[in-house]
Amino acid sequence: MNNYNKLLNNLDLLKLNKVKEKLDDYVDLINKKEKNFIDSLYELTNMEIKIMEEKRILHSIQFAGFPFLKSLDDFDFTFQPSINKEEIYDFKNLRFMTKNENILFVGSPGVGKTHLATAIGIENAKSNHSTYFINCNDLIQSLKKAHLQNRLDDKLKTLAKYKLLIIDEVGYLPIDVDSANMLFQLINKRYEKNSTIITTNKPFSKWGELFGDNMIANAILDRLLHHAHVITITGKSYRTKDILIDSEKNKQ
Ligand SMILES: Nc1ncnc2c1ncn2[C@@H]1O[C@H](COP(=O)(O)OP(=O)(O)OP(=O)(O)O)[C@@H](O)[C@H]1O
Ligand SMILES: [Mg+2]
Repeated sequence: MNNYNKLLNNLDLLKLNKVKEKLDDYVDLINKKEKNFIDSLYELTNMEIKIMEEKRILHSIQFAGFPFLKSLDDFDFTFQPSINKEEIYDFKNLRFMTKNENILFVGSPGVGKTHLATAIGIENAKSNHSTYFINCNDLIQSLKKAHLQNRLDDKLKTLAKYKLLIIDEVGYLPIDVDSANMLFQLINKRYEKNSTIITTNKPFSKWGELFGDNMIANAILDRLLHHAHVITITGKSYRTKDILIDSEKNKQ
């Protein structure tokens, strides 16, 4: 086997598929003296690194488990004037992450809480920080299961370690006291160490009722709100906007 074929084999073994694909083009360019060896090798390795980076981002986004993939650019801020667009776009810079701050999106159904939390989460996943999205009820079920299997500590440790944890839909289902206790432990472990994003339809004044215990609700809120951005969205549901527009039209 000649060295050219041996090189192709090596590239296969090293999984440098892009370098292999572009090799002939670059050999031709070098032969024609249109590129030198260093530039060629640099450009080839750069292409490979770009592909590795794209794969890593894809993997982080898949791992996070977002309900959909939407960005801030997909969000119609004119539909929701109660939101300060600049403040939301600043979250994209992830400054809140460097300070381990939390974000709490509060508002009624369909106003875009999950969309905004997801868009920020995707930015974080892209930037090589671990990100995990979970619905509050699913989180409680998984904590309960871990408790029954005597591995609650390990589960809490894993959940506490994510650089960004997004807990979606706090408040849609009532939370029993045992679950509230486990949620408290999680929030307490993350407090001032990592950022958490919460979406909720319940104003904080109703959290005592939601958790069936004022003391636990206050202890959770105290930690969540200590270094936090609270984004209260007061507009209409985006889900029903077309129905509302149609019914307005019918009235005319
Ligand atoms: N201002 C907006 N611009 C574009 N799309 C929007 C906007 N607001 C919401 N949406 C879209 O509407 C749907 C509902 O939004 P989302 O899931 O974020 O609502 P939510 O506030 O989380 O509601 P819920 O409390 O019921 O979970 C999603 O598909 C979302 O992408
Ligand atoms: Mg939602």
